[in-house]
Amino acid sequence: MENITFRIRRYDGTNTWVQEYRLPYEKGKTILWALTKIKDEIDPTLNFTSACRHAICGSCGVKVNGHAFLACKTSLDKLLETFDTSVLYFEPLGNYDVVRDLVVDWKPKMEKMKKVKPWLLPSREGSKEEGFRQSKQQFAKISSSTDCILCGICASECGQLAINDGGYLEPFIINKAYRFVVDSRDNAPEEHIRPVLENELWKCIHCMQCVSKCPKEIPLTDEIAYLRKETMKMGEVHNQGARHAYAFYHDVKKWGRLNEMTLPVKTDGMVTTLRKRIPFAYRMIVKGKINPLRLPKAVKGIKGVRKIYQQVEEESKS
Ligand code: SF4
Ligand code: SF4
Ligand code: FES
Repeated sequence: MENITFRIRRYDGTNTWVQEYRLPYEKGKTILWALTKIKDEIDPTLNFTSACRHAICGSCGVKVNGHAFLACKTSLDKLLETFDTSVLYFEPLGNYDVVRDLVVDWKPKMEKMKKVKPWLLPSREGSKEEGFRQSKQQFAKISSSTDCILCGICASECGQLAINDGGYLEPFIINKAYRFVVDSRDNAPEEHIRPVLENELWKCIHCMQCVSKCPKEIPLTDEIAYLRKETMKMGEVHNQGARHAYAFYHDVKKWGRLNEMTLPVKTDGMVTTLRKRIPFAYRMIVKGKINPLRLPKAVKGIKGVRKIYQQVEEESKS
């Protein structure tokens, strides 16, 4: 391959257009190298953000061929191989307002982050002599969540944010809440969790895009699962998400599988199910997906399933 074509979505505050640039292929170069070369040698009007060039400052997130990448950490070779093309289409991160070209507006996100009180709410004052010491085990709990560099890639890829009208929190905000919830020095975990719950914690659709794209490999969906469990421990069980989780738990324990007939009733209650789901259920019956006359039967290996439940339940008590 001799050249790579860069099609970049431009925006000047009023107009949007796509501008094309060409660079000769060079082995081992990054996305950021290409953007910098275009700006330095071809078009100084191109806007993008970057600073550290070492995957630390988090400022160089950008979308290429529909997916978000950290520009300084991602090689062009990887993109060319992944997309099997020498034409790369650049856009600003998704689920953000755009300021200019590839520059997005972080201010609304930072305002939103304040909801989860992203700071330590300590039980006591740290002293000059002792500070806020933690054991290795205590530090291990916050270790991966503190790796977040606020690059925004998880938010750009988030399937729920893409369809939500603003209520759902960006995965990195959920991560920030989690980071203080599990911090041994924090004395008010509820003050971080409750805003996450009130901002549609249960709406995560488990698309896993945040996890698979996070350049720091932060296990965001594990954190979401942990926070959900904590809200249930706080007694927050009368919401759609918690009821749905309980329905899964009890169905699988009883039959080793889900009962699609009763799942909506257990999740939404009889009235809502009748009001909202009857046409859908009718279509499922007609297409043979569910059979209201067939009572659920336990799967063959149900004894094994129950053993797993027993073991997990005993372990969670200890
Ligand atoms: S959680 Fe990962 S993807 Fe999201 S902002 Fe932090 S480092 Fe970036
Ligand atoms: S798994 Fe949940 S939080 Fe992560 S990107 Fe998908 S919807 Fe968003
Ligand atoms: S330039 Fe700092 S993370 Fe890429």
